[in-house]
Amino acid sequence: MPAVSLEQLVSLCKRRGIIYPGSEIYGGLQGLYDYGPVGVELKNNIVDSWWRRNVYERDDMEGLDCAILMNPLTWKYSGHEETFVDPLVDCRKCQGRWRADQAGTSCPACGSTDLTEPRPFNLMFKTQVGPVSEEDAYAYLRPETAQGIFVNFNNVLTTTARKLPFGIAQVGKGFRNEINPRNFLFRVREFDMLEIEFFVHPGTEDAWQDRWLEDRLAWWEHIGVGRDSIRILDVPREDLAHYSKKTYDLMYGYPTLGYEELEGIASRTDFDLGSHTRYQEQYELAAQVAENPSSTTRLSYFDPQTNRHVIPFVVEPSAGVGRCLLAVLSEAYDEPMVKAPPEDKLAGVKGGLDAFNASVSGNRKLPEEAREALISFGESISSELPESMPRIDALLAMTGADRIKEGKTLRNLSQKVIGDHYRTVLRLKPHLAPVKVAVFPLKRTDDRLASTARDIRKSLQSGGRIRTVYDDTGAIGKLYRRQDEIGTPLCVTVDFQTIDDQTVTVRDRDTMAQDRVPIDELKVYVEEKLAS
Ligand code: GAP
Repeated sequence: MPAVSLEQLVSLCKRRGIIYPGSEIYGGLQGLYDYGPVGVELKNNIVDSWWRRNVYERDDMEGLDCAILMNPLTWKYSGHEETFVDPLVDCRKCQGRWRADQAGTSCPACGSTDLTEPRPFNLMFKTQVGPVSEEDAYAYLRPETAQGIFVNFNNVLTTTARKLPFGIAQVGKGFRNEINPRNFLFRVREFDMLEIEFFVHPGTEDAWQDRWLEDRLAWWEHIGVGRDSIRILDVPREDLAHYSKKTYDLMYGYPTLGYEELEGIASRTDFDLGSHTRYQEQYELAAQVAENPSSTTRLSYFDPQTNRHVIPFVVEPSAGVGRCLLAVLSEAYDEPMVKAPPEDKLAGVKGGLDAFNASVSGNRKLPEEAREALISFGESISSELPESMPRIDALLAMTGADRIKEGKTLRNLSQKVIGDHYRTVLRLKPHLAPVKVAVFPLKRTDDRLASTARDIRKSLQSGGRIRTVYDDTGAIGKLYRRQDEIGTPLCVTVDFQTIDDQTVTVRDRDTMAQDRVPIDELKVYVEEKLAS
């Protein structure tokens, strides 16, 4: 069962080195996160899968990696200087600043209705270029990687001799000075983007947009986010970005947040290539663009069939890696009961949970939003016991829970029962798993077991494809638990029987079934299991 609360994922990410708050020892900086040792592997595997699917497995794509800083004229003609804005309101009472749509009629912090009129706030970060701080020595941190692709259109065309239709893919950082970054990785100020600009003959863009929708859904399925978990939103005309004539948003049902944008597939017409083109009057542009005397060139394509120069149309699938990682984690997350807790222990936890819920309900000092969230989650856990018991950890991590004194008793009552009777497991697709195989010696002080386990790790890792780790830092049960939590598909244990018959135990993450496998057949066994 997927995650039911964002807290489950936040807590797992911290506990297992997937995501850390950025510059945490100095109190952090809002909207910025770091990928830990496990997180960087998961992120790289997601990016690899995307690149493989969209660049290597197709014959109509090229890759690109552009600079983050660009000549600021790029952002003038792309329309971002003028239109990449969110409406901002200030609270006159507490000086809080909010996005107008998040604030509504009252300040989310203090409840005051004394708010300023909304005013536009540009989301691009500005930075100084060079040692002298002069008016015009500035650049923006790119808010999308797309513009690097558009301004290089001619370069790619001439150096690869591509014919329409073809696309250019890019993975890279994007930066947005979000007014209220929130909800963990969902809305941040710096994030990795997966972007494709696909160039097509004018008039064929609708069919291509539908094809891309199908292709992208198939990839999401391939990484464990099935079609059933995604809703397709045909974005209403009034909500379209300034460059788009039609956009499909893939909406994923994030825990706690509900359905929110995972990826956008936009039909950008000839807006971008047209905007960066000089002598626009020579083309019959469909998009409304500003005159561009600054560009040095035309970003057009000579169509040998019609003997005419045209400005191609663009279809753009674009997703953020953080939102992707959150969806993947959420889908893979599971907390199954391994064995049912005894009746008396269950009754104890239930009593503790009821007392906690009653205390939350009667607590008028908690902010209303936090109180309602605690009540709703607490009651849902209570109604689904015993299966739901591990969610108590997430409940106690929610905003406001630390102000309920019954929380401490509930934690004491539940922690050991959860530890003894449940496990947390990430059922990641093997190709995404940060670690594919973990190898343990049954007894680390026995040199024969430890050195055999180390040799097995080295041999599986050789060739570089099967990420394998050695661990001897605890009892086997604890080591299994750690690997389950990061989604390692297979664990190999070297025990005393290994010394006699050169076989090892291989445990499957999902079924917990154990096979006895000869060491010299292990690599083939592992490869087959990982491919299945
Ligand atoms: N080039 C198109 C473009 O930038 P967008 O819808 O603004 O379109 C693309 O952004 C994707 O980037 C979104 O679908 C989302 O996955 C991700 N994204 C956008 N803003 C984000 C933010 N502040 N934090 C995390 N991800 C974000």
